[in-house]
Amino acid sequence: MSDAQRITVLVDEPIATISPYLHGTFAEHLGGCIYPGIWVGEESAIANTRGLRNDVIVALRHLQIPVTRWPGGCFADHYHWRDGIGPRAERPLRVNDQWGSVAEPNTFGTHEFIDLCRLIGTEPYIVGNVGSGTPGELHDWVEYCNFGGRSALADERGANGAADPFNVRFWGIGNENWACGGTMSAEHYAEEFCRFRTFVKSYADTNVHAVACGPNSKDWSWTQRFFERVARYCDGHDRSPMLDSFAGHYYCGTAGEAAQYSDAQWLELLAKARAIEGLICGHRQIMDDYDPQRRIHFIIDEWGTWHDGEDSDPLYMLYRQNTMRDALACALTLDVFHNHSDKIWMGNIAQTINVLQAALLVMDDQCVKTPTYHAFDLYRPHQGGQALRTVNAGESISDGGASAEHCRDMYRDNSGFSLKVIEGSASVTGDTLCATVVNTDPNKPVELALSLVGAKLGNVDTVTLAGADIHAHNTFEAPDTVTLAESKAVAVRGTELRIALPAASATRVIGPLR
Ligand code: AHR
Repeated sequence: MSDAQRITVLVDEPIATISPYLHGTFAEHLGGCIYPGIWVGEESAIANTRGLRNDVIVALRHLQIPVTRWPGGCFADHYHWRDGIGPRAERPLRVNDQWGSVAEPNTFGTHEFIDLCRLIGTEPYIVGNVGSGTPGELHDWVEYCNFGGRSALADERGANGAADPFNVRFWGIGNENWACGGTMSAEHYAEEFCRFRTFVKSYADTNVHAVACGPNSKDWSWTQRFFERVARYCDGHDRSPMLDSFAGHYYCGTAGEAAQYSDAQWLELLAKARAIEGLICGHRQIMDDYDPQRRIHFIIDEWGTWHDGEDSDPLYMLYRQNTMRDALACALTLDVFHNHSDKIWMGNIAQTINVLQAALLVMDDQCVKTPTYHAFDLYRPHQGGQALRTVNAGESISDGGASAEHCRDMYRDNSGFSLKVIEGSASVTGDTLCATVVNTDPNKPVELALSLVGAKLGNVDTVTLAGADIHAHNTFEAPDTVTLAESKAVAVRGTELRIALPAASATRVIGPLR
């Protein structure tokens, strides 16, 4: 084992509350995510609750996902919500023009989505159609969901089985409107945002939280131009009171293939994932010029790895295996979110099931938890904690290799980028410390020296996510190759905790502060 890698937690230096919404997810009508990932129908031989798969409900409920975004993605700007309400047998069959021109049966619509959210305990985040819809259509969807009094739309919701309003708070005003959502300029979208937002109403107990379409990764110009136009056009004296969150997207891509890669490609992809930090700092810096009090949240409502694939079966489009590498890309991203919890408020990994960096892979009557699922499980106790500043004295393992320039470019101020052997974050909830640490080294275990300034740490429980090697993953044949391993009451000697971190692993440490 090499020399100890040290992380110091500064207990007296809180950053901000870790918004639970940072651990959110996203489910789109794309490939096998909704059909059959979530919806199999009441008549299915697969065990279900009102048509929603039981295995998926149980697995997702365990993760305590705070928010789930639906129905897209790009699909959102094709979707007309009225297609997905009323008796299922009478709903129109459409073509999913966005994703493979497959049949869209509309059997999973608004009521089914809300049912799913309630069953798994997540808050709904609905994305409205700006690209091919109208402000009136979006207005009606919000009224249908949220109006608690009598109106034709509220009565229709009641006739469709939901007398009480759904109280959906989060509404996206379009998706990627710089591309699939209408190929708009930032200025054009800013004006469309204001127009559509005008007709999205808050009723009774549900204050709408409106999300604007933000940039594609490092498109600083979109952010700059959007805010400039919104500030001038929407409301000259109070900047943008109609805007609650501004949502960027970041896919760190791939290096090699989903389950085949070299050590160098392992590091390259982890470095690209870690570079999300640059986006957060850069976009927040631009937003601060317009919104210095940070009343508008910066969020990233699509993020994750995106490996190349054949996609010959449109019913399983963007279906990707995911390995320990994806799990650590996820862990590093969540650590970055926590360490910048004063700048970022929501994150939605793409996507929940069968698409891109999925938590679950589902086929026929089988459901497998991916390493990414376990990473979310591992990091769960950070939700709602106070993020604490950490000092990472660990060595650098990579300057990003081939991607160094890309990563550096992610920083608006070009301050440089490197991936350390260990990366992590810490939070406190009540008097309990939670720290998570990733050993990014593909081959070497390292010794972690974790010390605290400002408090002492009692004996800790640890949980580790590791595989036999860097390619480890779960399959339908071997679903538990990668799981979590627990150690109880690990002794803290003197002022520091010393534990071994397996190569290519993520570890959670939880213990009482004294
Ligand atoms: O997550 C897949 C697609 O990626 C989404 O539909 C789109 O918003 C993004 O380009």
